[in-house]
Amino acid sequence: MDHIRFDAGEMTLIIACKLGSAPSITYWGKKLDDNSNIDDITALTVRRVVSGSADVIVEPSLAMEIGLGYSAPAGFEAHREGRSWGSHFTVTSAEKSNNQAIIECHDEVTQIKLIYIIKVNPKTGLIQFASSVTNTANSDGDKDILTINKMATIVLPIAGRMTELIGFTGRWADEFRRERMKRFSGSYVRENKRGRTSHDSFPAVILVRPDTREKSGEAFGLHLAWSGNHIIRVDTLMDGRVLASMGALLFPGEIRLKAGETFHSPEIVAGYSKKGLSALSRQYHDHVRNQLIRPAVKKRPRPVHYNSWEAVYFDHDIEELKAMADKAASIGVERFVLDDGWFGSRRSEKSGLGDWVVSDAIYPDGLKPLIDHVTGLGMEMGIWFEPEMVNPDSDLYRAHPDWVLHLHGREQLPFRSQYVLDISREEVADYLFQQIDAVLRDHDIGYVKWDMNRDLNHPGNSMGYARPHAHVMALYALIERIREAHPSVEIESCASGGGRPDFGVLAHTDRVWTSDSNDAIDRQNIQKGASYFLPLSVLGSHVGPQKCHITGRSISMGMRAATALMGHMGTELNLLTEPEDDLEELKIAIALYKKHRELIHSGDYYRIDTPRYINAMGIVSQDKSEALYSVAFLTGYHNTHPIMMPFPGLELTYNYKINSIWPHDFKSSTILDKKEIKEIGIGEYFKGATLHNLGMQLPPSFPETVHLFHLKKES
Ligand code: GLA
Repeated sequence: MDHIRFDAGEMTLIIACKLGSAPSITYWGKKLDDNSNIDDITALTVRRVVSGSADVIVEPSLAMEIGLGYSAPAGFEAHREGRSWGSHFTVTSAEKSNNQAIIECHDEVTQIKLIYIIKVNPKTGLIQFASSVTNTANSDGDKDILTINKMATIVLPIAGRMTELIGFTGRWADEFRRERMKRFSGSYVRENKRGRTSHDSFPAVILVRPDTREKSGEAFGLHLAWSGNHIIRVDTLMDGRVLASMGALLFPGEIRLKAGETFHSPEIVAGYSKKGLSALSRQYHDHVRNQLIRPAVKKRPRPVHYNSWEAVYFDHDIEELKAMADKAASIGVERFVLDDGWFGSRRSEKSGLGDWVVSDAIYPDGLKPLIDHVTGLGMEMGIWFEPEMVNPDSDLYRAHPDWVLHLHGREQLPFRSQYVLDISREEVADYLFQQIDAVLRDHDIGYVKWDMNRDLNHPGNSMGYARPHAHVMALYALIERIREAHPSVEIESCASGGGRPDFGVLAHTDRVWTSDSNDAIDRQNIQKGASYFLPLSVLGSHVGPQKCHITGRSISMGMRAATALMGHMGTELNLLTEPEDDLEELKIAIALYKKHRELIHSGDYYRIDTPRYINAMGIVSQDKSEALYSVAFLTGYHNTHPIMMPFPGLELTYNYKINSIWPHDFKSSTILDKKEIKEIGIGEYFKGATLHNLGMQLPPSFPETVHLFHLKKES
């Protein structure tokens, strides 16, 4: 087979895989006509030799390895003690069955096998690329150890007309910022060395045309399913080609393969859309919901959380927590998560991490009385762990100071008063498993918030080798071990908020903590950024205190509650001190979330292009019989009236009735009275086509107001 071709969703992918040649991508993009045959495509894309370059044309290969001779950034670099660095892989076998292809390559000279596994989702056209290299040297002497310096999972050519790219950046408490820029000659490169996914380099990039918007235009998306160091590249070469790649970023000597050993690259999940960015996001949402999240979790309505962190921090008092639980249950909370501070000597950030036993000082009768109280109120109990870490002031560290990652001869970089355990060591992983397992076995706990609050700055082991990659693999294995022992326990991935929210970790967990910031105005933007790749069902979004602890901004309950509702809703505030009026409003919002959560979590998601003062999105049920649109006025606006806002995603031929379901007190957030509200169309029926194409004149609204419009098909 000289070529493998997939046609799925809106895309066609053609890979040249002739035996004895380097594998390359002949075409990836807009779906081709059945009649466009591969010979024509090959003929039409032939490049002439030009002066000043080699006498033959070299096609970019999937690995962009050095031995190819292509003067462009390499996707793969390896050597054996400084030699055997010039690999050139050629195909030894290529197979396609249904939606999957396996292409095996080998290089006789450097003795390396390279395998690509390519899976295509027949419905969405989303592609999962995975690759691995095996050291095929015959002997196992030291000189045959293969050191891998660099390995992109795959290098993908991108159509040159994608002259812009959207990268992801951010910081703690302000994750998922988008940066849209023009491509330029040379390389867009992001290197993440934090040892976790990071707040500032979510592993994704989207290539677009200048006219690509939410509901129109072409977009190519790439996401790396990996929770550690990574490298993201978009290389614009002098020959006009554009290559996009991603892979695990490797430290010196980190991957050294003995003869027969294999290194697996994390998966790239790639999508193409010709109908804009929201359509691309819907492919990714489908992937997370249907491929990553466990069916039992997907089936169960996402329970409303209460989280103790911003209410009490380390100041745990069992009677106060019980009173908090009473209040939580009374406003409709379904899961009560006890955050940091319940174990060992953990009365502040400075001590106790690693000693996962219930603190006698704070809980003299153990956790059972609190858990019984919580479950007695009909709620599920959840609990916080940060397994990968240890405080120097802890029994664990005193017993095993050699268990931490460190760099010989260098002082540890101080970071939240904690060190990182070398969880790739069997005895360390066993210890952590036993500690977590004991807590889960001894208590009626249905949920774990798995945190990770520092970077891996000096990630060496006791032998002096770099371990960041091994750390991530060990993390996945440890979580799986816990999942196997406690299959009904759901696990959340948190890393100082949204520091570890990728598809790699979501293959092992059930939800991500999107951000430590509960500031609803910032959250509108953070959750919007997250929605490019993550569905609302996995995005933890909590109602925080009136005055946000992180930004110091005071925001109305109306805005806070409606913002949290468009995600996996929770609450994280001191219910004993918040104003009663606000709690009443929160209770109404929680009831509304419960009523609509199935739609929010299973519907098709649409971000809406708006001026900056508005953040708007919609969720449309799969059968298009109902939809929910959230329109947040972040600030005031310059004109006398806000915009006409379209309602994308509706079935054009249906009639829909528009209802305003939030603000719960509509009058307080607009300058309209009841009669005028009727006049803007609320409560009336309209054709889907008109709502989709023209939309509705939004009501004049105060800044910091969220409107939720529910649309129901006429029966
Ligand atoms: C991190 C998390 C918070 C909280 C604290 C506890 O910052 O993101 O939600 O759990 O740790 O120490």
